[in-house]
Parts: sequence; structure tokens; C-alpha cells
Amino acid sequence: MAEAPAFDPEKFKAAARAQWDKNAKGWNDSAPQIRGWLAVATEAMLDMADVKPGSHVLDVAAGAGDQTLDIAKRVGPSGSVLATDLSAGILEFAKENARRAGFANVETKVADGENLGVEEASFDAAVCRLGLMLYPDPLKGLREIYRALKPGARLATLVFSGPEQNPCVVILVSTAFKHAGLPPRDPYQPGGLLSLGKPGLIDELFQKAGFTDVKTRKVTALFKLPSVKDYLSFTRTSAGPILEILGKLDDAAKDAAWAEIEEKLTAFNTASGWEGPNELLLTTGRK
Ligand SMILES: C[S@@+](CC[C@H](N)C(=O)[O-])C[C@H]1O[C@@H](n2cnc3c(N)ncnc32)[C@H](O)[C@@H]1O
Repeated sequence: MAEAPAFDPEKFKAAARAQWDKNAKGWNDSAPQIRGWLAVATEAMLDMADVKPGSHVLDVAAGAGDQTLDIAKRVGPSGSVLATDLSAGILEFAKENARRAGFANVETKVADGENLGVEEASFDAAVCRLGLMLYPDPLKGLREIYRALKPGARLATLVFSGPEQNPCVVILVSTAFKHAGLPPRDPYQPGGLLSLGKPGLIDELFQKAGFTDVKTRKVTALFKLPSVKDYLSFTRTSAGPILEILGKLDDAAKDAAWAEIEEKLTAFNTASGWEGPNELLLTTGRK
């Protein structure tokens, strides 16, 4: 079995950027499924961040901009949203989606979440949907958002909760690791999909970054699809961290990994289709 290489945050981010550039189209093509999965959680996140007409909003790790469009609609023409992401490739889709939807109040900026390069105290609200757990140093990312917010403004983030509540993520990660010949990894290791699911951790990081009035609530986000094949097709084209783990395998070895993943995921077949359990943590804090 291969030794896990020593963790280098800059190399980790460079690899993540390249991977998200590569699967940007896949994530964008899955927008309808992602919207169905996350619509309720996203509305709650925007409420928690107090995103309202006229707000100037920072959307960090915005991806292809699904939640950016919701923000642009909420803030209206007198407000605006800056969508930022590590990957230029995926952010191009956010830009194009905003243009197609007719929103003139969306701007984009390629930026590492740990170093946003935006003006201090310039935003009325900030959100980060399913991005923060992928940072090697989420505290640095939270400090950076804190810096960008006006005094009194709120941040709301969504991340995966723990392994027991997210069995599909566990199946994806553990099976991918096994097929890649890597030893099982601590689910809470920085940068992993479940890294911020450790009880109490995200509240602690918000507080360390300076936020007050910090609250977390659990949000159920069932991924309902017609069949397990649809989830497979979503993850095979869009799930950056899993694709990265499998990246070095040849096509036959990749197929074998996906076959085992599919077989395990059939545990969530229902009479009417497929329902993958997921639980997210919705955290908010005030500057
Ligand atoms: C799971 S996707 C979520 C995208 C979008 N927020 C959504 O919910 O549809 C994760 C995103 O985080 C971005 N990302 C990963 N590491 C990052 C970092 N260090 N700084 C900024 N963005 C990062 C990726 O490029 C990717 O677009």
C-alpha cells in the first residue's frame, strides 16, 4: 500500500484548482440535480446571512454560480454579488450563467478563498456553499471573509456534517481511497469533504476568526434521483475530490472503483427511485 504523501497546502490547492477546472463542465451540467438537492438549504443560508434587496454580497467558492443566481435575484438591481472561486474554469460558467439569466449585478473574481484580495469592510453579507471544508486552512478562509465584511454583517456557510450522517460521501471517499491503493484517511483531515463535520469544530473556527453570535443548525439534504445511475453520473463528472483521488488510475481501474461504488450505493434504492442521505451544517456569525 502506498504511503500517504506529506501534506503540502500549496500543492493541495494547485491540484484542487486543476481538478475543478477539469470537471467544471460536469458540475455545471449537473446544475438541475444540484439545485434540487440544495434548494432548501440554500434559501436558509441566504436568510441566515441576511441577504436582502440592495445588499452587496460576497459568494466564496461559488463554483458554477448556482447560489450566485439566487443571490443576484434576491438583492435585485440595487444590490450586487461578487462570485469568487479558486478555479477560473468553473467561474467562467458562473459568469456565463449570470449573463444568460440577464443579471447585470454579478461580477466574478478568481481567488483562493484563503487570500481573497478584496477590499476590507466592503460587503453587507457573505456566503460559502460547500466550499470551506475543501480549504487546507479554513480558519484562514474565515478570517479573510471576516476582513471583507462590514461591521455588523453576517456570514453563512454550508458544509457536510459527520460521516455517520453522510454515508454516500463515506462510500465515495473510502472506496476511491481503497482503489487508489491509499490507506484509509481520518475523515476530519483538513481539506477533506467531511473535514468540518467534527462536532463543534466549525463554531470554534468562526469564533477564532472573530465572529460573534455564532450558531449552527443541521439541515437535511436528501439527494433524490430517479436511480443510483443518476447519482453515479453526477459524481463521475462533477465530484472533484473523488475524481482527484482516482486520477492516477487507468480507465479499467477507474471503472472497477466506480462499479464498487455503485454496488454500495444501491443500499439507498427506494420503491420510487434513489435517495441518498446527506446532512449539512448551516453556520452563521456576525462581524
Ligand atoms: C463542491 S463545489 C461548490 C460550488 C458551489 N458553491 C455550489 O455549491 O454549487 C466546491 C468549490 O470550491 C472551490 N474551491 C476549492 N478549494 C478552494 C479554495 N481554497 N478557495 C476557493 N475556492 C475553492 C472549487 O473550485 C469548487 O468550485
